[in-house]
Amino acid sequence: MKNLLILVQFCLYTFVSWSQPVLPKSQIFENGVVVSAHPEASLVGSQILKMGGNAVDAAIAIQFALAVVYPNAGNIGGGGFMIYADSKGKIDALDFREKAPAKAHKDMYLDEKGEVIKNKSLYGSLAAGVPGSVRGMAEAHKKYGSLPWEQLINPAIILAGQGYPITERQANLLNEYQERFLKYNQTPNAFNSTKAWKKGDIFIQSDLAKTLARIAKKGSNGFYKGKTAMLIRKHMKKHNGIITSKDLKQYNAVWRKPIEVSYKDYSIITMPPPSSGGIALGQLLKMVESRSLKNIEFENPLRYNILAEAEKRVYADRSKYLGDPDFVKVPISGLMDSLYCTKRMSNFVEMQPTAQKDITYGMPEGYESTETTHFSVADKYGTLVSITTTLNGNYGSSVVVEGAGFMLNNEMDDFSAKPGTPNMFGLIGSKANQIEPNKRMLSSMTPTIIKKGKKPLFALGSPGGGTIITTVFQVVLNLLEYKMDLEQAVNKSRFHHQWTPDILFLEQNQNDESIVNKLNKIGYKIERPNFLGCVGAVQIREDGSLLGVGDKRGDDCAAGF
Ligand code: DON
Repeated sequence: MKNLLILVQFCLYTFVSWSQPVLPKSQIFENGVVVSAHPEASLVGSQILKMGGNAVDAAIAIQFALAVVYPNAGNIGGGGFMIYADSKGKIDALDFREKAPAKAHKDMYLDEKGEVIKNKSLYGSLAAGVPGSVRGMAEAHKKYGSLPWEQLINPAIILAGQGYPITERQANLLNEYQERFLKYNQTPNAFNSTKAWKKGDIFIQSDLAKTLARIAKKGSNGFYKGKTAMLIRKHMKKHNGIITSKDLKQYNAVWRKPIEVSYKDYSIITMPPPSSGGIALGQLLKMVESRSLKNIEFENPLRYNILAEAEKRVYADRSKYLGDPDFVKVPISGLMDSLYCTKRMSNFVEMQPTAQKDITYGMPEGYESTETTHFSVADKYGTLVSITTTLNGNYGSSVVVEGAGFMLNNEMDDFSAKPGTPNMFGLIGSKANQIEPNKRMLSSMTPTIIKKGKKPLFALGSPGGGTIITTVFQVVLNLLEYKMDLEQAVNKSRFHHQWTPDILFLEQNQNDESIVNKLNKIGYKIERPNFLGCVGAVQIREDGSLLGVGDKRGDDCAAGF
């Protein structure tokens, strides 16, 4: 029976992989919906739901499919976080973040003068943390999965072995990174070809198919032990990397207590440390909760001003207090305490930016001393799953493990290489996030679920490095304060402030362009990135139907049945 199912899947995905599926950005379904960054991965997830799988089964299948069809961020060589909420009121959080190898040390990216060596934490084998995704998916499957493990990985094996047509966005990105792939990979692999990619080209990853087949057969031991582990170890030895067999064997994914923060009638369930996302989102919501935002028009500069000032204060706290909770004591409840958050905003004067130098971290109780991807799933049982996963930068360290066909992350750059020196997202940190053996680097990933009472309503999240938190924050406010529908809330223009640098980032194509002048006039230094974040969200609607919405900013799309 199991073999028959796999055969049916094989035929199905053979068909799927040779014709580019065109899926809607937003659609309502009756029995299950997924939203992910690539149409093939969305189709895989919805097929798993159709075969009787639950939201966690679908999420596992999407994670493996994205490792094949969205290799700039989807991964088995990276890590991520999952938030779970079901209709019975159970909530859960899974940490499958990468860890520093045991041989890592705090000065590993500094020269003899103590200065940060450019790019050392970003490219090449030394930039990689010990990958967490495969162990994470195995843990999720053990606790919540219902379909056989192999069945969830099989679509990814077929997509890797048979290939799939790449989208235009993917062709452009592969071309952009070609030089880097050639620089960091000397043996042939699917990525370091010299041809110019174009939309519709078939991308085949034979080594990755074999690695995935080992994982399908042996579970997470197919990655952390045996042939795959041997290939990683060999690669590390040859290229001066430091990940050892012991690091791989000992990697553990951890179930953690989710951050649960109330906002008016709703509860927001999100990721605790080692992500900073949940605490920061909680702080931001607490700082603005009493300010009657719904009475301030969306394009009124005062709305930008209140939110940006809250953001500056929260990122100042982030730089001081947040790090891996297995290594540093993070004052979680102190930081999210309503009184503390109100006090943090006490030097805020309406329509004035507080100068960066006048903001520092606060003193919470209990203190003792670009590229990522997000996907969301809703099943017919009323369960929501929200996963953000990453290699850190696009294609991580640009290193493909020889013979194993997958990209290694460059997550070591999320540590603070030196106190006060910004990482690739301009984020600074302190001792709490300094490199230590086996420690997890601080993250901004914020997979989130919004509930009312016991009932899960929305699952959402975003890529975007340090801008993930403010993206999720604004979509939550669009939903809960401005009562926008999910499509509007996701697609509305966004902005971002992270304290340092002292710049307000406003997306190009703001709905109201005059806002830029107004904010400039009151003293904000402004920059205009093309876009901020890229949200994938699902909703369980009042009538029980299921809505999926992919952000207009990416290839994200909905599939369901
Ligand atoms: O964990 C983090 O916060 C980062 N490694 C996320 C990287 C990211 O979102 C890149 N995407 N644009």
